[in-house]
Amino acid sequence: MKALITGATSGIGEAIAVNLHELGYELVITGRREERLAKLVDRLEGHRVSSHTLDVTDDVAISEVVAAAGEVDVLVNNAGGALGLASAQEAQLSDWLTMIATNITGLTVLTHALLPQMVRRGSGIIINLGSVAGEFPYPGGNVYGATKAYVRQFSLNLKADLAGTGVRVTDIEPGMVGDTEFSLVRFNHDADRAASVYDNMTALKPADIADLVRYIVTLPSHVNINTVSLMPVDQGFGPFNVARQS
Ligand SMILES: NC(=O)c1ccc[n+]([C@@H]2O[C@H](COP(=O)([O-])OP(=O)(O)OC[C@H]3O[C@@H](n4cnc5c(N)ncnc54)[C@H](OP(=O)(O)O)[C@@H]3O)[C@@H](O)[C@H]2O)c1
Repeated sequence: MKALITGATSGIGEAIAVNLHELGYELVITGRREERLAKLVDRLEGHRVSSHTLDVTDDVAISEVVAAAGEVDVLVNNAGGALGLASAQEAQLSDWLTMIATNITGLTVLTHALLPQMVRRGSGIIINLGSVAGEFPYPGGNVYGATKAYVRQFSLNLKADLAGTGVRVTDIEPGMVGDTEFSLVRFNHDADRAASVYDNMTALKPADIADLVRYIVTLPSHVNINTVSLMPVDQGFGPFNVARQS
């Protein structure tokens, strides 16, 4: 069995790679940072793992990686993230476009490239990393949340089309996951601001998401988990905000 994972260079993607490797999967690990990929290959002792530097916003690179990967049983569309937490009226357009290109277009192009072989074989699992931000709005979540809403609905619509093909699709929608670079990237590598997000609370760990992936891929082939929403016990939902006249 072979798994292709995007964004395996840190956080959730790296944990999923380690977990699937333990489960006996041959891995195709990808990400933009070559040195991180090399480190993970070392950690896995180079055993049943190939790595490819891949920016998921590069369509040509995606088709090259897909051609090199061969038959893929599990696709984990994990690469992505949030850029900034500014309100819509103050956000950088370039941040919005990067999130759309990565979280939406990259995931879509890679899925489109791998679907035919899965359907031909009559088996395969696509696991997408959505977010609770795709369902619940919060101030500053604007385009990030919208990209994850796309991931949620795309996953469900894939499921609709793939019924009867043997191909399974799951959208995993986590709340706050610590020990990742998510907040570091969101806050433009401001380490203090990133760390403060997880102050005095216990966030989910990448291993929690990886355990969920392990569960999903070891289910009997007639079972499809459509959507999984999970949060730290310490996280909840915000109240509606009300702009009051003074
Ligand atoms: N952490 C959370 O609280 C949380 C909650 C809900 C959902 N998620 C989602 O979980 C996924 C993983 O995030 P994480 O928390 O593990 O954050 P992370 O540690 O920052 O990991 C993000 C990964 O995505 C890769 N990536 C980013 N842009 C890319 C691009 N253009 N091409 C290829 N790879 C790219 C990064 O690798 P390179 O930089 O090496 O390319 C990195 O491996 C994301 O989709 C995120 O939206 C995270």
